Amino acid sequence: GGVRVRACSSSANLGPGFDSLAIAHTAFYDEVEARLTPGRGQVVVESVYGPYAHGAGRAETARRAVEELLRLAKRSIEGHSIVLRIYKGVPPGRGLGSSGASAAAAVKAVQILLDLKVPDSILVEAAGRGEAAAAGEPHYDNVAASLLGGLAIAALDKNGRLHVTSIDVDAWMTLIIPRAEVGSAKTRFMRQVLPREMELDRAARNWGRLALLVAAAARGDLRTFGAMMMQDEIIEPARSRFIPCYDVIKNAALDAGALGVTISGAGPSMIALTETRDKALRVADSVLKNCKCCDIEEVKVARTA
Ligand code: HSE
Repeated sequence: GGVRVRACSSSANLGPGFDSLAIAHTAFYDEVEARLTPGRGQVVVESVYGPYAHGAGRAETARRAVEELLRLAKRSIEGHSIVLRIYKGVPPGRGLGSSGASAAAAVKAVQILLDLKVPDSILVEAAGRGEAAAAGEPHYDNVAASLLGGLAIAALDKNGRLHVTSIDVDAWMTLIIPRAEVGSAKTRFMRQVLPREMELDRAARNWGRLALLVAAAARGDLRTFGAMMMQDEIIEPARSRFIPCYDVIKNAALDAGALGVTISGAGPSMIALTETRDKALRVADSVLKNCKCCDIEEVKVARTA
């Protein structure tokens, strides 16, 4: 008799929104059950199950996230322990927010379990720090989307305080998921290939497009949203050459009517945006038909969560 919470998979960045944006989708979910038992104030992972239960870092993410939440909420559980059971349904190492989903579900479950009166930004912060246990440094984009749903924005202000918000978006998407090595080294590598410095002009062009993308999403203008997804000139060019069949997938999706195609998070998955389910299925067909060059594990049609 504990509290069970589901958290969806998500795709970060969406082109120009590196480390700031992510969209939640119905493709996959993790689920965490939290309960209190008599104990010595510990957070314990009792079991990890489901299709992606293997991989040691996964449970650690959720456990650390809950510890961070207790610290940030200044809540002691003296005389009790929190026991977590984790269902891992989001494939890890694909750029689909897998570690973020476990962390998000865990903090939400514990918030409900302990009736913690904390704002969303604290939940996202705790989940992000927990995720750092797996990914190395905290990124709040995926956890914000998993926790808030929709198109989520996570921004740190000059004082290091986290602000989060999200926009409801009614859209469909096709996720193209290559078979991948499991392991958190992937995100680290995909960050090492990024430029450390750039000209101000280029940065300014990029954040103009990011602003336009967000405004378009808020107005329900999926055409502009999709167009701006493909206008990042900082992160995507550095990463795309490590994405198997990047060009083939992109062209096949666009030929089938996708409004925008980009790398999902740090990759190697790709995400294509469409306005309807039919269109998303057509994109999926087109990619499977045209892409003979790489090992696609799964092509999944999903909706904004
Ligand atoms: N935004 C991160 C990246 C991944 O692109 O490296 C998700 O947190």
